[in-house]
Amino acid sequence: MQVLVIGSGYVGLVAAACFAEAGHRILGVDVDAAKVATLSRGESPIFEPGLDELLVKHLASGALRFTTDLNAGIAEADAAFICVGTPQSEDGSADMKYVLAVAAQLGRAMALRAADAKPLIVVDKSTVPVGTAARVHAEIAAHTDRAFEVVSNPEFLREGSAILDFLEPDRVVVGCRTDHAETIMKGLYQSFLDRSGGKWFRMDPPSAELTKYAANAMLALRISFINEIANLAEAVGADVDHVKVAIGADHRIGPAFLNPGPGFGGSCFPKDLQALLKVGREQGQPLMTLAATVEANRHQKQVLLRKVKAHFGVQSGVPAPLKGRRFALWGLAFKADTDDIRESMALELIEGLVNLGAQVVVHDFAAMDAVRARIGDKVIYAATPLEACEGADALLIATEWAQYRQADLEAVGRALKSRRIFDGRNLFRPEAMEAQGWTYHSLGRRPVAAK
Ligand SMILES: NC(=O)c1ccc[n+]([C@@H]2O[C@H](COP(=O)([O-])OP(=O)(O)OC[C@H]3O[C@@H](n4cnc5c(N)ncnc54)[C@H](O)[C@@H]3O)[C@@H](O)[C@H]2O)c1
Repeated sequence: MQVLVIGSGYVGLVAAACFAEAGHRILGVDVDAAKVATLSRGESPIFEPGLDELLVKHLASGALRFTTDLNAGIAEADAAFICVGTPQSEDGSADMKYVLAVAAQLGRAMALRAADAKPLIVVDKSTVPVGTAARVHAEIAAHTDRAFEVVSNPEFLREGSAILDFLEPDRVVVGCRTDHAETIMKGLYQSFLDRSGGKWFRMDPPSAELTKYAANAMLALRISFINEIANLAEAVGADVDHVKVAIGADHRIGPAFLNPGPGFGGSCFPKDLQALLKVGREQGQPLMTLAATVEANRHQKQVLLRKVKAHFGVQSGVPAPLKGRRFALWGLAFKADTDDIRESMALELIEGLVNLGAQVVVHDFAAMDAVRARIGDKVIYAATPLEACEGADALLIATEWAQYRQADLEAVGRALKSRRIFDGRNLFRPEAMEAQGWTYHSLGRRPVAAK
């Protein structure tokens, strides 16, 4: 099949590369000429395991091309995927200007299709509020009388394992009204589902649109829930590691998404939750559990800073109480295996420490450039995790990169001024840390102090 993928960010680029891998001919379109040039050279502008290989392979095979010109592939296309951003507006709602701009462009470009061409399947893959398929339809129809159908196909990939998630999905959700649209969409996805044994869900477009928001809301709710249980566990002397496996063994609950952490971030949960809250308010159906989830997360994003302040006896009203202190910070991306720092808790932690007068030396395996571009010389950048620890008063861990878990803690202990770790990802067990003479603060487990 011939497919236009409009928007070459995390979602569009992954979709383009994976559809090419499935044997389709893909034209990736982006307004950012520099990004298109980079991609056309076979270089990925984002860090995503497995993406570079697919990019190089399918640029060479000719299955994948990139352009800034949406008109280039419209005449022969069976489907056009809209994968542009839907950032948060001032009022919390999803900003639809990029999606609607693409719809208008598509509407104008439709004139290049033959009058008797099969209907173009226009696919909303961006995360969009309920009713967007209808809005996109109206926008396109305002510019053309050629046949088309708008389909909702929300994306569930996770940054860091996006290629695998796309090639082997748990499920594909398609909101469409005709069998023709379903046939085209099945043609694109069937080989992935055959491989993964994943499920195919056909429904109406509004249900598909709501499914995406409901899925993200449910996941965020679980995270905030286990974070609160972890905080309580710490207060009452319980161990969240025991609690989470025991509740997760209940098949009605399940074990996934029950790891406490320093608050969720990233490009999706924060903005999607705000967008869903806004829809709830507009519809007179306020989503109270979701409002609490957001509030709990705001609190949780300060968890490591609170622990540091308590440990170092920071008093309010004292100017620069951490002046002269140096902290190593491992992890800047909002989670492991990505370079994405949007809404990353690490940035809030840096802000908090620097405001208290501390010096922060940071390390990340993929997100250093993004942070440098965002905050410049507010922090010191270390080439290795160990280098970050040299002479620091404590090590703080914000991102769960596997390499940090495997770090040589004896070497870390020698590099630090003092054997102290504040671990926002529970990478180590308190008993083991105690035996090795560490002062170790983690989430939902008893703190241990060096003797
Ligand atoms: N990142 C994720 O993990 C993820 C997962 C599921 C769903 N989503 C959703 O997918 C959508 C895209 O997210 P993303 O992270 O890929 O965004 P992104 O910001 O990484 O990429 C968007 C791309 O669209 C391009 N663009 C903007 N206007 C355009 C236009 N008129 N024509 C062509 N290109 C245009 C931009 O230049 C950019 O390259 C969002 O709605 C997001 O919520 C994201």
